[in-house]
Parts: sequence; C-alpha cells; structure tokens
Amino acid sequence: MMKTGTKRTIAGAAGAALMIVYPLAMFSCGRTQHFELSRFLGPDMCGGCHAAVADQWKNSMHNLSHFDPVYTAVAKHLRKGLTDPDEIAEAESCVKCHTPVGFVTGNPTKVSDDLDRVPDIAKQGIQCDYCHSATGARKMYNNDIRLDPGHGMDNAGTKRGPFTDSHSEFHKSAYSKFHTESGICGTCHDVRHVVYGTKLETTYEEWLGSPYNSSDSNKRIPCQGCHMYQRPGVPATGSTPRPQNPGEAAGGGPQRAHIYTHYFVGANAYVPNKFGDAVKARMAEERLKNAAALTIIDAELSKGIVKVEVKNIGAGHKLPTGLTDVRQMWLEVVVTDAAGRELFSSGKLGRDGTIPAGAVVYNTVFGDGKGKAVANLAKAREVLKDYRIPPLGSVVETYTVPNLKAKTVTVIVALKYRSAPQELLDAVFGAGKIVLPVTTMAEAKKQIAL
Ligand code: HEC
Ligand code: HEC
Ligand code: HEC
Ligand code: HEC
Ligand code: HEC
Repeated sequence: MMKTGTKRTIAGAAGAALMIVYPLAMFSCGRTQHFELSRFLGPDMCGGCHAAVADQWKNSMHNLSHFDPVYTAVAKHLRKGLTDPDEIAEAESCVKCHTPVGFVTGNPTKVSDDLDRVPDIAKQGIQCDYCHSATGARKMYNNDIRLDPGHGMDNAGTKRGPFTDSHSEFHKSAYSKFHTESGICGTCHDVRHVVYGTKLETTYEEWLGSPYNSSDSNKRIPCQGCHMYQRPGVPATGSTPRPQNPGEAAGGGPQRAHIYTHYFVGANAYVPNKFGDAVKARMAEERLKNAAALTIIDAELSKGIVKVEVKNIGAGHKLPTGLTDVRQMWLEVVVTDAAGRELFSSGKLGRDGTIPAGAVVYNTVFGDGKGKAVANLAKAREVLKDYRIPPLGSVVETYTVPNLKAKTVTVIVALKYRSAPQELLDAVFGAGKIVLPVTTMAEAKKQIAL
C-alpha cells in the first residue's frame, strides 16, 4: 500500500490506525512514499544466500549511516537552539538519507525523534532491500528514489541488479539500467537545503561535469566503476588498475566475470574502525593515497618563491567531495636549510590539533546570504567559498619564504586529509575527546642548491 501527500496512516502501538498530520515543511521537496515496515527484508536475510556481498557491506558507511556517532552527534548539535522554521526543517531532514528504510516506513520521520527507538531493520542504515527495490529516481538530489519493495518472506518481490539472466527461488530478479549508472548513487550524493535550495553536497554534479562521464564507453567510469571495484589491496581509483572481480553473486550461483563489491569505502578511516572494521579503515587510506599527486616547482626559489602543484589524479569528482564544509584537505609545506633548521612552514597542525591560519585548505564554506560565514548548514543560504580540485584538474599554490639566504634548502610538501576539523569535534564531543586520523595523501621532497 502506497500513500502520498502529507497524511499518513501508521499502525499504532495498540494496533489501531493512527492518523498523523505532518507539517508541510517536512515535504517541501515533494511527495514522499510510505510503505508498511513488513515490506522490507533485513540484510541478514539477504546475507543467507549473498554471504560475500553482505560481509563487505557490514560496517560500511552505508550500514552505519544511522548509528555513525559523528553523524548523530553533529545532527543533534546542529538542531540545538534553532527557532526559524526553515532552519528547523533542514536540521530535521537528515533521517531521509541516513535512516532511509525508517523514513519511508514512518519511524523516524525527523532527527529529534528518539533515534534509539526505531525498528531494528531501520537501524541497519542504507541496506540491501532499499537499494535493490529501487526502480528509478524522481529527481537527482535529496534521496528521491522510487521504490517497489516486495511483500515479506512469502513474496519477496523483484530484486533489481546488473544481470539479465539471473534466477533465484526466493525472489524475482530483473535487469535494471538504473543500478549500473551513477544516478542511483547521485540521488543521495547530491544534497540541497530543503527550503533554500543551497547546494550542500554535489558529488554527483561534480561527476556529471567530469571527464569520467564520457560518451566513449572505454573512458566512461560511473561511481560503481571505482567504488564497487575496490577490495583490500585494489584501491580502484582513476590512477590505479581496476581489475574485474570474478566470482559468484550467490552461493551456488553461476560464475560471473565481475561481482560488484559492496565495501562502499570513501575516505572515512575513523567510523568503520570504531566499529572494529580495521580492513575498511585501511581501504579508505589506500583510496586517499591514490587520489592526488604533488609537484614542487622551484624555478623561482632564489627569489624565495616556491610553488606546489596539486593534481586530482584519482577521484571521479572534486577533491575532496561530499560534506566538504566539514572535510579538511590541506597542504603542509616545510622549508629547511642544510642543517635541518626550519626556515618556513605552513599547514603544520597546532598543539590543539587545529590547522593554523594562512594554510591552504581545500573545502567549502557556507554563508548566511549576506556574505557572513555560517557553521550550521541549516542556515546556509549561499556558498561563499568552494576551493577544491576538479577531477583530473590541478591547482598551483605559491608560497614566499622571507629572507631566504641559505645555500641549500630542502622543500617537503604533504597533502593531508581528515574527515572533520578538531574545532567541530571539540564543540560536539568536548575538547580532545575525539581525535581523527590524519592521512598523508601524497608527499614530495626536493633538495635544491641555490
Ligand atoms: C547503496 C546501494 C546498495 C546497497 C546498500 C546494496 N547494494 Fe547490491 N548492488 C548495488 C548496485 C548499484 C549494484 C550493481 C552495480 C552495477 O551494475 O554497476 C549491486 C549489485 C548487487 C548484486 C549483483 C552481484 C554483484 O555484486 O555484482 C547482488 C547479488 C547484490 N547487489 C546484493 C546486495 C546485498 C545482499 C546487499 C546487502 C548486504 C546489497 N546488495 C546492498 C547497490 C547496492
Ligand atoms: C540527501 C541525502 C542526505 C541528507 C538529507 C543528509 N545527509 Fe548527511 N550524508 C550524506 C552523504 C551522501 C554523506 C557522505 C558524504 C561524505 O562522505 O562526504 C553524508 C555524510 C554525513 C556526515 C559525515 C559522517 C562522518 O562520519 O564523517 C555527517 C556528520 C552528516 N552527513 C550529517 C548530516 C546532517 C546533520 C544532516 C541533516 C541536517 C544530513 N547529514 C542530511 C547524505 C545526506
Ligand atoms: C534463498 C537465497 C536468496 C536469498 C535469501 C536472496 N537472494 Fe538474491 N539471489 C539469489 C540467487 C541464487 C541469485 C542469482 C545469482 C546470479 O544470477 O548470479 C540472486 C540474485 C540477486 C540479485 C541480482 C539480480 C539481477 O538481475 O541482477 C540481486 C540484486 C539480489 N539477488 C538481491 C537480493 C536481496 C536484496 C535479498 C534480500 C532481500 C536477496 N537477494 C535474498 C538468491 C537469494
Ligand atoms: C575515478 C574513480 C572514482 C569515481 C568514478 C568516483 N569516485 Fe568517489 N572517490 C574516489 C577517490 C579516489 C576517493 C578518495 C578521495 C576523496 O575523498 O575524494 C573518493 C571518495 C569518495 C567519497 C568520500 C569523500 C569524503 O572525503 O568524504 C564519496 C562520498 C564518494 N567518493 C562518492 C562517489 C560517488 C557518489 C560517485 C559517483 C557520482 C563517485 N564517488 C565516483 C574515486 C572515484
Ligand atoms: C539512500 C541514500 C544513498 C544511496 C542510494 C547511496 N548512498 Fe552512499 N552514502 C549515503 C550516506 C548517508 C552516507 C554517509 C553515511 C554516514 O554518515 O555514515 C554515504 C556514504 C558513502 C561512502 C563513504 C564516504 C566516506 O566518507 O567514506 C561512499 C564511498 C558511498 N556512500 C558511495 C556510494 C555509491 C557508489 C553509491 C551508489 C552505488 C551510493 N553511495 C548510494 C547515502 C547514500
């Protein structure tokens, strides 16, 4: 049974039908679908036959999207103290993507619901039966996936995927072009403010405008071409081989040339590790270490000028991408003399874990509509800064070393990444309570005689 509009019927605790009317703002991005909870089957069920896929997906950022402690704490932090209804509508909207099965079945409907008291299946985050019940998307942002789930154990419905000849006793199978293209990822990986329309995350849009979105099928790489080819030891980025992964999609199923992997690793080394999955943390580092290249340009060093070129060689979108008002990618530059004495530095983390002023940071900054930066995305009416590196593009940074008199100097450059600034973690969790790993994505060193 599917309902649309702002009224929904949900079975109450006593079994009685309960009519709930939601404020219009919650649906300001269009009509929403509603399904009975029993229409979704849990990942353990799927894993009974798709064991390898289920193992890979376990503790992925998709599996953890509801419980992710950084997400839940940040969501509560951003919601606090808001009074403007438009800002509240945005701050409450997170569950649509982070707890999608819960959202389309009625619990939770918003961030301020008790997120611990949602059905067990909803706690499993972005899961098998959500993605594999998808038939398309209404629009390409804010998770507007169209769903056609089954009717429980006895009639599991149609699972859609990449095969044209797939058979299972348990469920019907169907080929779905949508599943083989970036769009299935893009509808969640482009995020807009629900009222102001401000573009908060643009990973899909960045890919659309990239050389990877090529009409030449030999050059075309959708999201799946990198992220669903990765496995331990095979980072599968734009700068590394992306070999096929032959095997079976289900126990006893036919041998296939490629089984799409389901680790869904991006750049986050902290969260999977927190849930005991060191493998995914290492895979995130492998991905980051094959994303960028650095070149030191010393032609004008005698005048005290050193340039650094940073190239995005591996990511199918800007570097970094996603939640880039929070993510931090920055350059650390150190110049020393022959005796190792530091003549200049930029971007070395302070004792308190913060990036010092003047460092080159690749990120986005939102504004209040009048040119003033805002830290809370609920208040984001404009993008004030978007300084990142386009796919296969590069930028050149210029540094000036004052009073350079040494005869021999060494220039050491590193590109660093972490998932969130220390300032934000300190504000949300308390000073120094959480310190995220910093990954060195690329390094370059040059000794120059002047
Ligand atoms: C975020 C969405 C998403 C989630 C979550 C997800 N899948 Fe998939 N899955 C896909 C896509 C997309 C493909 C096909 C990729 C392609 O063809 O480019 C796929 C492919 C498959 C296939 C075909 C064999 C293969 O791997 O190539 C099976 C079987 C499958 N998934 C089962 C599962 C199971 C079981 C789970 C849960 C443990 C799961 N999927 C979770 C998106 C998802
Ligand atoms: C349209 C879908 C969508 C909505 C709505 C959404 N997010 Fe997300 N969120 C994402 C995606 C996609 C990522 C992963 C991007 C990345 O890794 O940079 C993400 C990642 C995050 C992370 C990073 C988690 C970590 O461990 O580093 C935080 C924090 C977060 N979201 C907070 C929120 C909050 C707060 C809201 C509501 C105000 C929200 N999100 C609404 C899609 C969404
Ligand atoms: C009783 C075993 C069994 C269970 C349980 C099961 N599947 Fe399957 N599934 C199979 C088999 C067998 C295939 C065929 C594999 C092939 O063709 O290589 C398959 C194929 C698929 C495909 C590929 C469809 C295509 O046409 O590309 C997807 C997607 C899929 N299953 C998803 C799921 C999801 C999601 C669940 C849980 C809701 C699930 N399966 C539960 C046995 C099962
Ligand atoms: C050519 C390979 C390639 C393609 C295609 C690609 N990615 Fe990535 N992706 C990477 C690499 C490398 C990284 C790690 C560096 C980074 O963070 O950008 C990454 C990181 C990410 C992250 C984590 C970003 C962060 O810092 O939080 C997300 C989310 C992501 N990709 C989603 C997508 C989506 C969605 C698509 C399709 C629209 C896509 N990717 C296409 C290679 C690719
Ligand atoms: C239902 C919405 C949804 C869909 C569909 C979806 N994602 Fe995600 N994805 C998210 C959210 C939300 C997160 C962040 C979860 C968290 O905070 O822990 C995320 C996280 C990720 C990450 C990890 C980012 C990091 O920082 O490490 C990658 C990689 C990723 N998604 C790739 C994909 C790809 C590839 C597809 C398509 C096959 C896809 N996603 C489809 C919502 C979605």
